[in-house]
Amino acid sequence: MTESTRPTVYIETYGCQMNVSDSELMLGKMVASGYDEADAPDNADVILLNTCAIRDHAEQRVIGRLGEMKSKMKKDAVVGVTGCMAQRLGPQILKRAKHVSLVIGPDGYRSLPLLVENARRGVRATATDFDLEEHYEDFKPRRFDKVKAWVPVQRGCDYRCTYCIVPTTRGPERSRQLDEVVRETREIVAEGMSEVVLLGQTVNSYTDGIHDFADLLRAVGAVDGVKRLRFTSPHPNDFSDCVIAAMAETEAVCEHVHLPMQSGSSRTLRRMLRRYSREGYFECVDRLRTAMPGLAMTTDIIVGFPGETEEDFLETLSAVREVGFDDAYTFKFSAREGTPATRMPESDTISDEVASERLARLIDTVRSGTRERNLGALGERREVLIEKQARRGGLLQARTRDFKTVIIPGEIDMIGTYATVELTGTTGSTFTGAVVRERVSLPMAV
Ligand code: 5AD
Ligand code: SF4
Repeated sequence: MTESTRPTVYIETYGCQMNVSDSELMLGKMVASGYDEADAPDNADVILLNTCAIRDHAEQRVIGRLGEMKSKMKKDAVVGVTGCMAQRLGPQILKRAKHVSLVIGPDGYRSLPLLVENARRGVRATATDFDLEEHYEDFKPRRFDKVKAWVPVQRGCDYRCTYCIVPTTRGPERSRQLDEVVRETREIVAEGMSEVVLLGQTVNSYTDGIHDFADLLRAVGAVDGVKRLRFTSPHPNDFSDCVIAAMAETEAVCEHVHLPMQSGSSRTLRRMLRRYSREGYFECVDRLRTAMPGLAMTTDIIVGFPGETEEDFLETLSAVREVGFDDAYTFKFSAREGTPATRMPESDTISDEVASERLARLIDTVRSGTRERNLGALGERREVLIEKQARRGGLLQARTRDFKTVIIPGEIDMIGTYATVELTGTTGSTFTGAVVRERVSLPMAV
């Protein structure tokens, strides 16, 4: 066989699942335009960094990576910055990094092959217009994950949380047509996957003009072959009774909700413009748990938001205990230029020292809750979907319906299959498990 002469593209993804999904669309588009996928930047003809802007740290990582690439990449490689940081900084990136020739925001990927071709001829470009019709329906994503499929159902965000850059980087909210989501789900099942994760910035506010999120859950859950249905991230205010009923009644919907709380203090929530109070959040949790007993809950929490007092923070700690989260992603507030939080009085700023100390206490509280819950689950049997090889030798990583990670022994060919496991141990956050062999009853000898 002769070696392929097709040019190659390497994509590196930062940030959320929506970005992973966008990278899958970009890779699909590039492959359809004559490129092969490269698994390292060194020899790639095109290098794309699909970036995140949610916290300063995320942007600093990309800046570091761009510097590193300069000395390692092929001399004539085209380097593009895409995603949220591209949208936020636009042409500034071209000015500051001379080896970058493309800057493309989340709504500009349709022109990716053309802009790459131009860039290979030396034309640098920025594409950061929003396109409220854009859902990339005709793109065929090249999925990185072989076991579960990310399905974007909504782009952009219409909430205006005062800390958040996303409405600026991803523009106004718009949803795909339900039929298109169902079509994509059928294709996913035909490719051999049985878990679907619906994606949107406030995914449960989905509406295509006729159907709401409850309709979407029922329709996707009804596609033959969908065994597990998840979604991320919902907003507490968009959990209508209809949506909760659809979750409870749709068998494929997994017993886990990731429900960003952000703070347990009503005063801070008001200043964050989250549009719910501490009690409102608790009430949402109760409604979900009443409809789905045993529902696992995870969350996002920010500490050090401007003006957060020790009392506010203690309310966050007590809310974490009161809800009993299965896990939480915890963040120090990061000021994002142009967001309303940056216009709060200077005197409200929380020092990094205080924020770090609060973060450490929060992590302790979250961890001890997780550990306690997980210890209580030891000995239970669960269905798991085997997702990939574990980082440690010879083991596999599997996931329960309620989103617990279980490390089990097994062979690579078990990836993508389901098994029943007994939870035999826990590190606190993840479990070890033993596969339970289904007992086959043989006919009695006569
Ligand atoms: N600083 C820190 N954390 C943030 N998040 C969003 N914006 C910021 C910010 N400016 C967190 C929120 C959100 C998660 C994806 O990132 O908790 O739910
Ligand atoms: Fe990061 Fe938010 Fe953009 Fe996702 S939508 S990449 S989390 S800034």
